[in-house]
Amino acid sequence: MESIQATKQRFGIIGNDPKLNRAVEKAIQVAPTDISVLVTGESGVGKESIPKIIHSLSHRKHGKYIAVNCGAIPEGTIDSELFGHEKGSFTGATAARSGYFEVADGGTIFLDEVGELPLPTQVRLLRVLENGEFLKVGSSAAQKTDVRIVAATNVKMADAIQKGKFREDLYYRLSTVEINLPPLRERRDDIHLLFRKFAADFAQKYKMPTIRLTDQATDLLLKYRWSGNIRQLRNVAEQISVLEQNREISYDTLKHYLPDMGSNLPAVVNSKKAESDFSSEREILYKVLFDMKRDVNDLKKLTLELMKTGNAAKVKEEQSSLINKIYSEESDAEEELASIIEEENNDDDADVEVFSIPENASDSRKDKYEYAEDIEEEENLSLQQKELELIKKSLEKYNGKRKDAADELGISERTLYRKIKQYDL
Ligand SMILES: Nc1ncnc2c1ncn2[C@@H]1O[C@H](COP(=O)(O)OP(=O)(O)OP(=O)(O)O)[C@@H](O)[C@H]1O
Ligand SMILES: [Mg+2]
Repeated sequence: MESIQATKQRFGIIGNDPKLNRAVEKAIQVAPTDISVLVTGESGVGKESIPKIIHSLSHRKHGKYIAVNCGAIPEGTIDSELFGHEKGSFTGATAARSGYFEVADGGTIFLDEVGELPLPTQVRLLRVLENGEFLKVGSSAAQKTDVRIVAATNVKMADAIQKGKFREDLYYRLSTVEINLPPLRERRDDIHLLFRKFAADFAQKYKMPTIRLTDQATDLLLKYRWSGNIRQLRNVAEQISVLEQNREISYDTLKHYLPDMGSNLPAVVNSKKAESDFSSEREILYKVLFDMKRDVNDLKKLTLELMKTGNAAKVKEEQSSLINKIYSEESDAEEELASIIEEENNDDDADVEVFSIPENASDSRKDKYEYAEDIEEEENLSLQQKELELIKKSLEKYNGKRKDAADELGISERTLYRKIKQYDL
């Protein structure tokens, strides 16, 4: 059996914490079997290495390894992606398509963020796990496949089960063996080691001298909560490596790179601060407005683009779908506004007037076109910036709990998930 040290080296895993070593050891032990494995641990702890270890040390190593991010695939297409579909099974299915479970026959599928799977997909997955059978979307003929599943999640599955969002039977089937990766703050001895490794890597990458921390800065590094775990540590090491002229990093300099340090340090818990930071529904309302503005921009671009090609029918069709979208966002804004007005009865702020919608719809449409003319390209960037800030704030407020943050932002968890990936948060 390959040794723990050799495996860590092969997969670039840094650290000597006993819990980390145990996780790697478990992966080595289960690799030769076909047992389903569930990898658990907070975001950024390094879960993605485990299924790779398992696949590479198994008899399936010459078969396919497919990693699927269950949270990033839209609900409408996930069944078809995983299990394939027959021609004509839904609008747009112009040809039959093989899904991952067919393609990975004889190999391994890594189902990352498995907690995000919609319930109907969970039913299909349970069936494959139980008897190796699946149905393509739109087909009634069961197909056989021989796939080993490794799944991963950074959410508390017990909560998801309790809320009826995840099937308990599937959970047990997936987690025959659970491999847990500890958060970085429980692996204090590895923190400095990892930091030095990342600092050396980035020094080489950017052809600059390696940064080093003063003793006080090192203390801070070890005390910090690292809620984004190794991913966050790596990002901080990269930012400092690129931005700091003075390569000796003091306490104050490091502190500057650790977001929300006050509430991130274990000793200080200040939830009030987080609340006042996120200034209420008004920001959500702005967000709705920003989305609308962006759509108007899209509409403008589309109009110009398609007018050039002279395809009038297509122009009209796409325009009306975008206009419908804008109107539905307007009504979102209106609802949001109504609830804010209700809550802030005495607040006569003039800025809310901006959102009142004229009686005459066609006039309002005309206004939008004129308005669109005034929007500069760079405004898009600042809107994105605003959206990014809002998402960051709400994630910080809820300590990274996507469900709560999504609720507050008034978007679905799935959309939030995609935004997190988009902005690489
Ligand atoms: N022990 C480690 N040594 C070196 N690099 C590591 C280690 N653990 C994680 N990393 C690096 O940290 C980053 C985050 O790891 P990974 O993508 O596996 O996180 P994750 O647990 O899958 O998080 P999420 O739940 O957010 O997907 C990656 O760039 C990975 O290479
Ligand atoms: Mg991951």
